[in-house]
Amino acid sequence: MLSTPQVQKEIQRRRTFAIISHPDAGKTTLTEKLLYHGGVIHETGEVKGKSGTKAVTSDWMAMEREKGISITSSVMTFDYDSLRVNLLDTPGHKDFSEDTYRVLMAVDSACMLIDVAKGVEERTKKLYEVCRLRKVPIFTFVNKLDREGKDPLTLIDEVEKTLNMQCYPVTWPLGIGQRFRGIYNRLTKEIWVYDQRREEVEDYKIIPFEKGKDDQILYDYLDKESADQVLEELDLIESALPPFDVNEFLNGTISPVTFGSAKQNFGVDTFLKFFTQYAPGPQARQTKDDKQIDPLDNNFTGFVFKIQANMDKRHRDRIAFIRICSGKFERGMKVKHSRHDKELRLSYASQFVAADKETVDDAYAGDIVGVGDTGNFAIGDCVFASGKVHFEDIPKFAPELFGRLSVRDALKRQKMQEALNHLSEEGAIQLFIDPLVGPQDPIIGAVGELQFEVLLRRLQDEYNLEVKLNRLPYGVARWPRTEDGKAVAELKGGANMFRDLQDNPVVLVNQEWDLNWLKRENPSVEFHTSISRA
Ligand code: G4P
Repeated sequence: MLSTPQVQKEIQRRRTFAIISHPDAGKTTLTEKLLYHGGVIHETGEVKGKSGTKAVTSDWMAMEREKGISITSSVMTFDYDSLRVNLLDTPGHKDFSEDTYRVLMAVDSACMLIDVAKGVEERTKKLYEVCRLRKVPIFTFVNKLDREGKDPLTLIDEVEKTLNMQCYPVTWPLGIGQRFRGIYNRLTKEIWVYDQRREEVEDYKIIPFEKGKDDQILYDYLDKESADQVLEELDLIESALPPFDVNEFLNGTISPVTFGSAKQNFGVDTFLKFFTQYAPGPQARQTKDDKQIDPLDNNFTGFVFKIQANMDKRHRDRIAFIRICSGKFERGMKVKHSRHDKELRLSYASQFVAADKETVDDAYAGDIVGVGDTGNFAIGDCVFASGKVHFEDIPKFAPELFGRLSVRDALKRQKMQEALNHLSEEGAIQLFIDPLVGPQDPIIGAVGELQFEVLLRRLQDEYNLEVKLNRLPYGVARWPRTEDGKAVAELKGGANMFRDLQDNPVVLVNQEWDLNWLKRENPSVEFHTSISRA
């Protein structure tokens, strides 16, 4: 049954997305400008940035500040035009990529942010691949046009070749760096003039521009060489590209590109306008039994994509972030929990604006709510008001660092095991069990060094456990499967076989060379870098 027309209207105005980028491309700066345009902040510099202007509520948030990185991801909500936009923050640091991957399971579109001087960087590429797995539509924002960088044609070519995806330039830069004079919007046929000295951020000069008729205008703003170059570039892209095809964008094969400077707040509103016009609303979601749940369905459903512990140290709380997939959420509602098959009351729920939490009374498909959790939730758990709904699993990704923990006080071994189980449910680490040793002494897998650091700090602060980390020489984890997806428990070639917590066989080897050896020895086996949580 469909929701009431009023609820449907609310759902249809939701837009939920994330920014994917390499550290330093300008994600924090762009986020801040988007929130500014969304009216959430009134002057730039209010968002938690490297200088950390917001109250810090936990120790590892303090670590984040010390290290000048963003470890935690939160959700920022703002209204723009008639839309309610949810921007999911993603930790930029490579050590927290798993957390970022999971955030991408909860969005309906993404904005790929690229530094004009650096082009497609390694983290961007990996995050793009995760979006591609889900066919998430991707906008591209090329940033830092006020600095010297690659010329736009070279950059577009690089994006297309590296990511094997087509680009559609919506705007085109007029010059770059010292010679940056504005952007041309190909859809509205307008030039937005860039003037560094403008007083107000919205204070632009906008000139109608029709190529072939108004070419002279470019020479008024650019030197001859730059104007010639822009006209040549426009000739090239206009003759080579078919009109913008929304469907190709929605199925993830073409990415609309806009240019600008987040720092100068230039081109950000052009992007936002384009985004609000084309970004898809909440999408239908696939269940394990191959059904599609329509977001407009009356039955409230959602899944946990992130768990954050200890947001407020005084209360030792955990917050489970739920992406609502259909229907309406109401504070205090009773829901069923897929894994435990029991009923829960979602009595406390919050939404986030930058680092601040606000209590919410109702929320709709597309929204993210953080619910207080006393240990009921794990990543991938589903909640629903009626029936039984199991959404497709959230994948796990292969860690690259491994270690074992030893606890100083032997009497606390069981406590450590419980703590590790909690932290792995939260997705903070992955655990691998040696079948010969059993679950009491698991191997811990992490994507980056910092994840280990946070683990040790949290074991001490939250669980009062003093532990020592003993590193293991493994560097590669793979889930071996047959071609038709069945788990492979034994391999030829002397492989070290382990089990993950869902009892899937995993092979751990020291380096790629060893993996290639195993591949040669076991030609019919596929070695997966990610696997769905069972
Ligand atoms: P991140 O979250 O992706 O890691 O990047 P962040 O926004 O922190 O930006 C990284 C650096 O790039 C910052 O400089 C920021 O000011 C600068 N930046 C972002 N967008 C632009 C842009 O459009 N043009 C130019 N010229 N610079 C940009 P910083 O020196 O690290 O910090 P700050 O002292 O400038 O704040």
